[in-house]
Amino acid sequence: MSRFEVLTNGVLATEIVAGPGLATQPVLPDRAGRHQVIVLTQPGTPRIIADGIAANLRVDHTVVELPDRDGAKSWELVAELYESLARLGVGRHDTIVGVGGGALTDVAGFVASTWLRGIEAVYVPTTVLGAIDAAIGGKTGINLAGKNLVGTFTHPARVVVDTDVLDALPAGIKREGWAEAIKAGFIADPDLVSLFEQFPENPPMVEVVERAVAVKVDVVNGDFREAGQRMILNFGHTVGHGVEIAQGISHGEAVAIGMVAAADLSRRRYGFDYPMRDVLKALGLPVTSTADRRQVEELIWLDKKRDANGLKMVLLDAVGSPRIDYVTADEVALGLDAIGLG
Ligand SMILES: NC(=O)c1ccc[n+]([C@@H]2O[C@H](COP(=O)([O-])OP(=O)(O)OC[C@H]3O[C@@H](n4cnc5c(N)ncnc54)[C@H](O)[C@@H]3O)[C@@H](O)[C@H]2O)c1
Repeated sequence: MSRFEVLTNGVLATEIVAGPGLATQPVLPDRAGRHQVIVLTQPGTPRIIADGIAANLRVDHTVVELPDRDGAKSWELVAELYESLARLGVGRHDTIVGVGGGALTDVAGFVASTWLRGIEAVYVPTTVLGAIDAAIGGKTGINLAGKNLVGTFTHPARVVVDTDVLDALPAGIKREGWAEAIKAGFIADPDLVSLFEQFPENPPMVEVVERAVAVKVDVVNGDFREAGQRMILNFGHTVGHGVEIAQGISHGEAVAIGMVAAADLSRRRYGFDYPMRDVLKALGLPVTSTADRRQVEELIWLDKKRDANGLKMVLLDAVGSPRIDYVTADEVALGLDAIGLG
């Protein structure tokens, strides 16, 4: 088992543990005064995981199933949940445990951080993307007119990543997570990229998760010196975000396509010479888009990384060496050519 710490002002905010079999062991931090636990999960997540966690809690608990995927991240549902918490008498010293993908931990964190002005949250992420990205860093949120428009910045007390659960994921969901995991390698850990190059068919889950979690924790803890360095996590996301919406594909697939475009811009600016397409293809990820080019362009230029000086993108001058740069419309256009939107 490996252990990581997210700190705020030098104080432990989140303990993250990762390793095989952890969801079959007690997941709560030791703490006096806890009367009950609400376990939130979703129907798409094998129920056996939440039930197993609940059975080991050793405290009164209620398991609540929310709608699947982003269907859980709605204001109406959160209002219903608050009513349930009131009926159950959930108090200041109680805990909400979120068991599921990133959507579930986002809403679990949001409810925990707002109920009684904030109670303890524990996450058991059950997707690769949830484990290495969504569960770490304290961003909680629900969707209103747009995605994640309402949320809080509140760290969970504990994140328990069971790599056996992640190993058992359906291939498609696993692959989506590989896109964010290899992204972590591109921005900060060349050895993680090598792992994917060596074992494209079956990347070693424990090591991949440990390395990708370490990158996210380091970024969140501000170990990367320059101001605004959290933005390096957005490698592949500027174009990826546009493609995700315009083409209606999954986040992980869109990030893969976005990384191909960003690698092309990086090659033109810095001579970044890396077979991005081949490596991502070998992982089973898409490298071209069939979206409407005009719509992708519009979405890119609406991006929140745009400021008065233009559009900022994360580029690479080498694997593990990110640069945050303003890019021109011509460069972006060539990047779109590179993903087949010519
Ligand atoms: N808070 C953050 O910093 C952050 C970062 C990235 C993404 N997110 C959010 O995360 C969400 C995406 O997360 P995701 O990719 O995990 O998707 P998801 O949460 O929508 O889950 C995808 C599907 O996988 C199912 N599932 C979960 N665990 C499973 C398991 N072990 N076996 C089989 N199926 C399982 C889910 O029920 C769902 O049907 C989005 O809402 C996004 O906004 C948040």
